[in-house]
Amino acid sequence: MNVLFIGDIVGLEGQEYAERVLEEVSRDHQLDLVIANGENAVHGRGLNRKAAERLYDAGVEIITLGNHTWDQHELQDFIDEDARIVRPCNYPPGTPGRGYTVCKVGSTEVLVVNLMGRTFLSQLDCPFRTIDAVLKQHPAIRHIIVDMHAEVTSEKLAMGWYLDGRVSAVFGTHTHVPTADERVLPHGTAYITDVGMVGPRDGILGVDREIVIGRLISQMPARFSVAKGPRQFHAVLCELSDETGRATAIKRVTKYESA
Ligand SMILES: [Fe+2]
Ligand SMILES: [Fe+2]
Repeated sequence: MNVLFIGDIVGLEGQEYAERVLEEVSRDHQLDLVIANGENAVHGRGLNRKAAERLYDAGVEIITLGNHTWDQHELQDFIDEDARIVRPCNYPPGTPGRGYTVCKVGSTEVLVVNLMGRTFLSQLDCPFRTIDAVLKQHPAIRHIIVDMHAEVTSEKLAMGWYLDGRVSAVFGTHTHVPTADERVLPHGTAYITDVGMVGPRDGILGVDREIVIGRLISQMPARFSVAKGPRQFHAVLCELSDETGRATAIKRVTKYESA
């Protein structure tokens, strides 16, 4: 089973480029499941119905989220009804939506879980205890993908090693800068600290760089907007054994739009 996991999609620019690159990638590879982090899909902040539909139309089957989950108020109106959208699982009990979903690839069940780290982010429930509880509830599922949305590399690495041999893959998201440490850990879990992002390449994490630089220098508040210009696409393509769910390969998929 080939799983394509796409890093944080930023703004309409990111949506459009993801759509275009997905067409190309699905011509070159057989993709059995496409997952994307959509926490920045609407002007860099959150997800709404229109953006979700556009990503589905482009071939994305499951959308994961992160610290920007609730930035678009509209999501609260439909997240409970859409089982393809997964928000961090370690939010407090009673939070709208779901922290994991089970989808089907042929006759195989795949569990997709979203977790959020706690360092420099909200103090949610423990992501380690949370994933333990989810895995306990689904002992028969062998194909398990975890989006570990976190700020610091150590927390993501810790989750990768903690879950090695217990899940198929741990993909880091949130920092928007891809890391070069993709590998299959010794017990069969594919891992990368950060997948990267989809959207403008010459901004700062997708945001207009003049605004970010100005804010850093002046220490005054300023409204962020998504950068313009040529775009980047970062994803990972991961091969899982159909029988065991263990990862057999992971590679980065990177595309750059010419200026
Ligand atoms: Fe993000
Ligand atoms: Fe984030």
